Amino acid sequence: MNIEFLRIKNFRNYTSAAVKPSPGKNVFVGMNGQGKSNLLEAIYCLSNTRSFRTARSAEMIEWEKDSFYIGGEVVSRKSRFDIKMFYSAKKKVSPSMITP
Ligand SMILES: Nc1ncnc2c1ncn2[C@@H]1O[C@H](COP(=O)(O)OP(=O)(O)O)[C@@H](O)[C@H]1O
Ligand SMILES: [Mg+2]
Repeated sequence: MNIEFLRIKNFRNYTSAAVKPSPGKNVFVGMNGQGKSNLLEAIYCLSNTRSFRTARSAEMIEWEKDSFYIGGEVVSRKSRFDIKMFYSAKKKVSPSMITP
């Protein structure tokens, strides 16, 4: 699976981020606590619908926020997929809460 574009909102310490990885291998460099593992967690979560760090999905929501969004344009076995994941800590979700 290749990620061509990744968009995250209110995920851990990312209020809003867009990542366009280069083809092939990519290296994320940053200071301790800057968000490298959080980015990998978002990618893992988009592929596996769960975190590799916590069983409580609400922990991944940015503090003080109600929900997170992860969107990825991925290519797998020559097919292109537009995957969107939205998680809310609120029981009732109105469509307007879901950010594209
Ligand atoms: N739910 C959250 N909301 C906001 N910030 C968070 C949340 N969970 C973790 N963080 C922050 O994310 C940072 C750790 O990011 P991490 O990706 O683990 O760092 P590293 O780059 O060292 O891998 C810490 O500063 C922590 O405070
Ligand atoms: Mg780390």
